[in-house]
Amino acid sequence: MRPSTAPLPPTLVVIPTYDEREALPGTLARLRAAVPAADVLVVDDSSPDGTGEWADHAAECDTHVHVLHRAGKEGLGPAYLAGFAWGLEHGYAQLVEMDADASHRPEQLLGLLEAVRRGADLAIGSRWVAGGRVHDWPLSRLLLSRGANVYVQALLGLGVRDATAGYRAFRADLLRELVAGDIASQGYCFQVDMTRRARDLGAVIAEVPIDFDERTEGASKMSPRIVREALVLITLWGLSRRTQRILRRLR
Ligand code: GDD
Ligand code: MN
Repeated sequence: MRPSTAPLPPTLVVIPTYDEREALPGTLARLRAAVPAADVLVVDDSSPDGTGEWADHAAECDTHVHVLHRAGKEGLGPAYLAGFAWGLEHGYAQLVEMDADASHRPEQLLGLLEAVRRGADLAIGSRWVAGGRVHDWPLSRLLLSRGANVYVQALLGLGVRDATAGYRAFRADLLRELVAGDIASQGYCFQVDMTRRARDLGAVIAEVPIDFDERTEGASKMSPRIVREALVLITLWGLSRRTQRILRRLR
């Protein structure tokens, strides 16, 4: 998709960080170069490696960069919710989710924003649609991601190929409705939770193919606990969806 040359509506890229001191500088530099008009909010959970202090320094040197410090590591979901609240308060028209480790190429952000400009309420940077690719992921991660998406589709029927994707652009109007809900997901199932809630609200969801690069610095925060939480919550959401359907038929 060729990006439009129209001026960008006020855009905030939210980057959650935990121990990303090695990875964040390169990602931020690429993002500022790729989409100079966008503002950035780093949401740091008091990383022991000094990511938050480095981000403060970056914010002092660049008025487009902002930092939100949180007291401790509470997971991806709460970090994004805090970042979104800040962004909505500050009046941004579109808000973006992006990982700190450059797995999401900043150079592909305009493609996501173009999908929003063309009418999507939520544009998902997708690894699993035609043209999407994952580079250098171990087989175990490939299987986990594919398996999670097959399970999500079987239980929730979202019609989205990459429901766990972490590269997304939301129209602020949709996001405002989404965060009004009671979102308890902590780990990466936050992404599935947001997708399912967007679908329930009747949002227009577009998937844009992206290249996902394995990180070259730092380490993934994926853990057995995150996998367990996702498995339990997706199963509960699926059961509750089925129960509601049966009750509706009985009425
Ligand atoms: N503030 C904060 N707090 N940030 C966090 C936390 C947390 O508790 N946990 C993770 N992050 C940040 C990381 O620092 C990174 O910027 C981003 O969230 C993604 O974390 P990674 O650890 O790099 O995730 P991944 O590469 O294993 O997983 C990717 O794939 C998942 C499954 O498809 C990401 O794109 C996920 O968003 C995606 O759900
Ligand atoms: Mn990563």
